[in-house]
Amino acid sequence: MTRLEATDVLAGKPSSFDVSRVRLDFPALSQIVNGSPVAYLDNAASTQKPTSVIETVTAAYTFNYSNVHRGVHTLSQRATEAYEGARETARQFLGAPLVEEIVFVRGTTEGINLVAQSYLRPRLEPGDEVLISGLEHHSNIVPWQMVCQQTGANLRVVPINAKGEIDLDAYKDALSRRTRLVAMSHISNALGTVNPVQMIVELAQQRGIPTLIDGAQAAPHLALDVATLGCDFYTVSGHKVFGPTGIGVLYGRLDRLNEMEPYQGGGEMIRSVTFESTEYASPPHKFEAGTPHIAGAIGLGAAMDYLTELGIDTIGAYETDLLRYATQCLGRLPEVRLIGTADDKAAVISFLLEDIHAHDVGTILDQEGIAVRVGHHCAQPVMDYFQVSSTARASFAFYNTAQEVDRLVGGIKNVLEVFGR
Ligand code: ALA
Repeated sequence: MTRLEATDVLAGKPSSFDVSRVRLDFPALSQIVNGSPVAYLDNAASTQKPTSVIETVTAAYTFNYSNVHRGVHTLSQRATEAYEGARETARQFLGAPLVEEIVFVRGTTEGINLVAQSYLRPRLEPGDEVLISGLEHHSNIVPWQMVCQQTGANLRVVPINAKGEIDLDAYKDALSRRTRLVAMSHISNALGTVNPVQMIVELAQQRGIPTLIDGAQAAPHLALDVATLGCDFYTVSGHKVFGPTGIGVLYGRLDRLNEMEPYQGGGEMIRSVTFESTEYASPPHKFEAGTPHIAGAIGLGAAMDYLTELGIDTIGAYETDLLRYATQCLGRLPEVRLIGTADDKAAVISFLLEDIHAHDVGTILDQEGIAVRVGHHCAQPVMDYFQVSSTARASFAFYNTAQEVDRLVGGIKNVLEVFGR
């Protein structure tokens, strides 16, 4: 068998993307881990941070820190300006028409819980349906399960096929008079499947059904345009887009946000309060009770600026090449079983090595400084579908290289050797 060279797949491409230069922006990537340069292939779990984000967060705490929206003094004004500036950056990043449609939340999980409790719960009657897919992360299952239990509604699940793609015919059939919301991921974290969200949203819209798209895995890889997509809600996590942890964005169409009651009360989210009643602030503030993650939001803005400057389409094209190369390399090892082979995939390879436990695979790779995630990836129903308890998962970002893919392949061969295969 001829050896597959990275250059077969990656050479001859326009050199608009200089991965070696980009890697210098990420201090974590030049570390030695267990005696080898780290090969960080766990980006679907969380991403490394560029210096611009680290310095922005440091500056937010060092020079411009105070509470927001509350002070007449200069530091509070600076903090407020930076915090609200980050909201505008997020608006542009998501392609949202209005800045009022950008709610800062802790992350995708909190965004989904907010929609479940504030939007959906008061609208659900016993026998109503919430429609998700068999590809979802637990964060796009459990909040809907909870709200169904609270109201007597039913959770319906659109099945997937053996490639790990949503069955669109089954989806069309599942949309019913009782469907009150469709909630689906843009990209599967466990398998990397890119779902046809435009079609999913349009089919729901034709029946007047609102949609929520979980964009946690899509935001680092694809240019977002929620206005064109036409969904009612879209969620993003900061830590997956090279920003801080504990911060994310829920986009909600303004008419939806206006018709929602907040589910958390406190400071920041009110216009006036008496012991008898409270008048809430307008969106987005009515959903941001308490002192927010000020430095986190500002850091998220810096991360989105960083990605925009690199060019999401440029990095997406590079990652597509990298994924193709990795898929070809792993596909040449007969002991590798790929889990998830959708026609449209992004940045994720889930795999098993014969009957070797995924935890052993991850542990041996780690000894060579290669970081992959092993386990059920917070998507146990996906594992159940493929009748496995866990997989090893390599997930890529634009700062990964073909050489790191080669190291992964070498590491897999070592694992096989250790197990005498
Ligand atoms: N959702 C994260 C993952 O896929 C944690 O690993």
